[in-house]
Amino acid sequence: MSEPLANLLTQLDDLQQQAADAIAAAADPKALDAARVATLGKKAPLSGMNRFLKDLSKEEKPAFGQRLNQVKKQLEAALAEKLENFEAAGVGPADGLDVTLPGIRATVGRRHPLMQTAERVKDVMVGLGFSYDDYPEIETEHFNFDALNTPDWHPARDMHDTFYTPSGHVMRTHTSAFQTRAMRAMLAAGKAPPLRAMTFGRCYRNDEVDATHMPVFHQLDAIAIDKHIGFADLKATLLKLAEALFGVGAELRFRPSYFPFTTPSAEVDVMTERGWMEILGAGMTRPEVLRHGGLDPDVYQGFAFGLGIDRIAMKRHGVADIRLLYENEDAFLRQF
Ligand code: DAH
Repeated sequence: MSEPLANLLTQLDDLQQQAADAIAAAADPKALDAARVATLGKKAPLSGMNRFLKDLSKEEKPAFGQRLNQVKKQLEAALAEKLENFEAAGVGPADGLDVTLPGIRATVGRRHPLMQTAERVKDVMVGLGFSYDDYPEIETEHFNFDALNTPDWHPARDMHDTFYTPSGHVMRTHTSAFQTRAMRAMLAAGKAPPLRAMTFGRCYRNDEVDATHMPVFHQLDAIAIDKHIGFADLKATLLKLAEALFGVGAELRFRPSYFPFTTPSAEVDVMTERGWMEILGAGMTRPEVLRHGGLDPDVYQGFAFGLGIDRIAMKRHGVADIRLLYENEDAFLRQF
């Protein structure tokens, strides 16, 4: 070994010893960080040792380079180990923690008013014997329209009203799209009516945004199918639901209406401080729809209804503008 190499290796040993002592002496994470800068930082003596490589012969360069790297690695490992020990022991910076400072209050999340309302309706409906399932938001034209007896030429299918995907699917325009799916799922499971099923979720329509319209909104649809089901069953179910939501004595008003998938059909209003407010569409399921679901309309009848959850949430909480339900402003949401 040449003399220059022997000298350099001795210097390395000394630097390693000094650095190890500095690390061992650090009493808290802050002091440890100072030791790290002093021993391995850009201006540390160790970092300058590279420059002596050029004084060594080609044969001796690797011996020095390897030892230099080894020293750095060992010091890094010692630093990391000591930092871990500090963390494990819960040692913070000696002067960094003031336990007398006021804390940062953790904000607690809560359910969105739309979801609260949907949960409430679901609970009541489960109590009335309806089961719950999620269904696709991106639907086929078949389940959203055709199976619900909505002909090709129906204005609801117009691009002005319905969002179509490039693949030719539709963003479901109503949760009613689940109805024949639910019938078919029942049959596929080897079961037969009575069927009481519901779903809830986002629906989409190509609407201008204003205080009562959004291109995305929420519906909850339910369907009941059995032998000997009549309009009275529908009315009784809706009255029970309205009383659970708005209190005993809640008043409903049934207005004759038209939907392609029900007959007779009704739009139903609830009495509010500001007068009647429409909250749902309903009716007796048409034979065509039962047939699309795989059921014999000579044996079975059904009723169905679809609730506008946004409107009900607005009515329950006195919200005048539907946009507030979608802006997710903390100051608004914190009230619920
Ligand atoms: N799908 C209708 C709408 O979006 C509401 C509706 C009417 C749902 C009658 C139903 C029903 O299930 O039977 O306006």
